[in-house]
Amino acid sequence: MSHLKIAIRYYSRSGSTQKLATAIGSAIGVPAKPISEPLTEPVELLFLGGAPYIAGHLNRHLQQFIQALTSQQVTRIAVFSTSNWQGSIVTQVTKNLRDPALQVLHSDFACRGAFGKLNRQHPTITECAAAGRYAQQIVAQLKDS
Ligand SMILES: Cc1cc2nc3c(=O)[nH]c(=O)nc-3n(C[C@H](O)[C@H](O)[C@H](O)COP(=O)(O)O)c2cc1C
Repeated sequence: MSHLKIAIRYYSRSGSTQKLATAIGSAIGVPAKPISEPLTEPVELLFLGGAPYIAGHLNRHLQQFIQALTSQQVTRIAVFSTSNWQGSIVTQVTKNLRDPALQVLHSDFACRGAFGKLNRQHPTITECAAAGRYAQQIVAQLKDS
């Protein structure tokens, strides 16, 4: 797998997850796009970002995006997220998948996001840099496999 096909998609209501997506995009040289932009070609790796809303649920649009994904379009998904107390959204992403052949990587990236006036500094520059390194590691591991 020397030329991995990679895409980045995210849902971000107030910009926190978008910051991580942008950092990941810069780190691996792939444009970070919102889920409103459909995947245009099959990818071996999809970085998918979001946040939990109310009792940990994903936003309806993100749920629909995940439900519509097929293993013809995407081989595996690496999840990244911001939240206030929940941490990872890997469980919610996995629950929403309809195609059982789609693989969600166990390794994900999660950090705090801003919540109104709370945690306004998050994700911090350090957290964004860590998200970029996370993405680079995932890509390097897949290229070696
Ligand atoms: C209405 C609402 C509900 C939320 N519910 C949760 C929650 O259940 N668990 C949690 O950890 N964070 C919750 N949060 C915090 C968001 O997940 C957090 O602010 C996240 O960084 C938002 O990311 P975004 O700006 O990329 O959409 C909630 C935020 C809002 C506005």
